[in-house]
Amino acid sequence: MHDEGLIFKIATAAKQLRNDKRKSVYNLAVGESDLMRKKLTIVGSGFVGATCAHWALAKELCDVVLIDIDNDITRGKALDLFQASPVLGSDCKVVGGSDYDLTKNSDVVVITAGLPRKPGMSRDELLSKNASIVKAVTEQIVKYSPKCILVVVSNPLDAMAYVAYKVSRFPKERVIGMAGVLDSARFRSFIAQELDVSVEDVHGFVLGGHGDTMVPVVEYCSVGGIPLTQLLSTEKLNAIVDRTRNGGAEMVSLLKTGSAYTAPSASVIAMVESILKDKKRVLPVAAYLDGEYGVKGYFVGVLAKLGSAGIEKIYELKLQKEAQAHMDKSVDHVKALVSQLSF
Ligand SMILES: NC(=O)c1ccc[n+]([C@@H]2O[C@H](COP(=O)([O-])OP(=O)(O)OC[C@H]3O[C@@H](n4cnc5c(N)ncnc54)[C@H](O)[C@@H]3O)[C@@H](O)[C@H]2O)c1
Repeated sequence: MHDEGLIFKIATAAKQLRNDKRKSVYNLAVGESDLMRKKLTIVGSGFVGATCAHWALAKELCDVVLIDIDNDITRGKALDLFQASPVLGSDCKVVGGSDYDLTKNSDVVVITAGLPRKPGMSRDELLSKNASIVKAVTEQIVKYSPKCILVVVSNPLDAMAYVAYKVSRFPKERVIGMAGVLDSARFRSFIAQELDVSVEDVHGFVLGGHGDTMVPVVEYCSVGGIPLTQLLSTEKLNAIVDRTRNGGAEMVSLLKTGSAYTAPSASVIAMVESILKDKKRVLPVAAYLDGEYGVKGYFVGVLAKLGSAGIEKIYELKLQKEAQAHMDKSVDHVKALVSQLSF
């Protein structure tokens, strides 16, 4: 016969013990401030910025502050997102406006402020206008969140990450450009479509600068562990590589008044999530190179580990001759762009 009362007492005591143990281990492992929700600021509440906020809140990832020169529209976008929170079941806070005071002590700041390109334009044509916007924005961010990690999105990406790095004077680990996750997502989705397989099983990445010279690295691409080169003809592969390189322009020509934002913002939030949750994902990002791949002093797309410290490791891969030649060309392009800046 069971003694119900005794069983209940033992179960309650065991539960209490588990909770106490968990709490004390947790308190030992994290500081007091880590017990609060993390804070993400997104500067630029346009298509990319507002959609970043949408993804972050839908994932209940962190509190979000949207900042833009347009105060009312930004307050409106934040209010709209907040009103979605009961439906999404998301208790994260979201506010918006033009006042950088709102951004105080952010853990991560994403910069999407700046012009997007129009049909027929290259990303490089945005250089001088967006450089002055990114400079002004970075100065404000540093003032209010001197310990944050910066994720730069504005184009031309590798040059804008350079501007943010120079202006912020942050250590190189805390300034990261987003392009590779997006370019790789395009590459992977086109491969999955061609082979009629799940996107989840396609692994591959794009390195180099975020432009027509980007480098989809075919030799490291696999589907369920099978090298891609065993599954697709050279002709098909080349077509997918070309479509990936022109992925941004294809979107601009279809959208007509701006550039892509859903896949870009999902890519940003994948990076932010890895940082805020210290997931240590290995992702293709634009990182400041200090000798890796023979490059010093420029932001170039490479594979890196992203965690709570920002870029925690850069992986230097052995590339085959053709990919290395493309990488060199891509780096030259980044250098030429940066040489036009006065930083
Ligand atoms: N890195 C990538 O892979 C990638 C992908 C997509 C877009 N982008 C780039 O991201 C940027 C934003 O694209 P979008 O589609 O959201 O453009 P958008 O025009 O919809 O939004 C840009 C926003 O920036 C704001 N802004 C301008 N100057 C500002 C300032 N000084 N301070 C604060 N806000 C300011 C504008 O008011 C606008 O709301 C563009 O430069 C685009 O090229 C990059």
